[in-house]
Amino acid sequence: MSKYLLEQRCAEALARQAGKMILRASRGEFEVFAKDGNDVVTEVDRAIEVFIAGELNALFPDDEILGEEYGGVEGHSTQRRWLIDPIDGTLNFTCGVPMSCVSIALQENGVSQVGVVYEPYRNELFSARRGAGALLDGQPMRVSPRTRIDESVLVTGFRPITRDDLPDNLENFVAISKEVRAVRRFGSAALDLAYVAAGRLDGFWEFGLSPWDTGAGYLLVEEAGGRVSDVKNGPYTGFELSILATNAHIHDSLSKRLNL
Ligand code: 2AM
Ligand code: CA
Repeated sequence: MSKYLLEQRCAEALARQAGKMILRASRGEFEVFAKDGNDVVTEVDRAIEVFIAGELNALFPDDEILGEEYGGVEGHSTQRRWLIDPIDGTLNFTCGVPMSCVSIALQENGVSQVGVVYEPYRNELFSARRGAGALLDGQPMRVSPRTRIDESVLVTGFRPITRDDLPDNLENFVAISKEVRAVRRFGSAALDLAYVAAGRLDGFWEFGLSPWDTGAGYLLVEEAGGRVSDVKNGPYTGFELSILATNAHIHDSLSKRLNL
């Protein structure tokens, strides 16, 4: 069996099961708790992370785990480490907006080898293994062929906590909006990356994300033929303050326009 194929299949199965938990919960009532800043978390986020981490721990007891809600092994690691975002787009989930997903990545030595994003509302599974390409519901997916920045449709995001060390992304939003066809803002970074990988959107940038937000999505984009860097076109490893992920064609030109 190819290296990491078993891990990819397990991540896909767990993401699907977790997605069912999101759907079921979205039809009923659940408790919402305030997190730091104006961020929120729900009992569903917590239950899903406990479920995924428990299953991964049973399947791969030697692997490290880092999840959004319960943490785990932080910082740089040379080991195999699973990154779990049980619900990416939690605020959407609490509002009944059907734009959130489950994100599971396996990294080795800090580099994503497997990335799975499952979006339960449309029942879409985005999955990649390093060197083996990216799939949407089992079919190969590619980034968009668009080369003209003025025709591009982009997406960005604004994390909920104001941090003084981050650039003001609203300035970028205003400046870039004047030069492209549209800039969207959906509120789920993992789904934004999956949509770039699927060729639906031409590029994505954001500041201040965490490794569990991007660990699966950045591999999807790379394996779908796109490019990923920080906004200044430096290497992206998951711990940078910013991420820029595009169809590759518009990458340099978008990078020059960001963080003006
Ligand atoms: P979440 O829904 O899992 O919290 C919004 O553009 C993006 O910012 C979402 O992917 C959201 O993920 C993420 N986000 C929200 N709060 C965050 C935080 N405290 N740290 C990092 N990313 C966060
Ligand atoms: Ca989350």
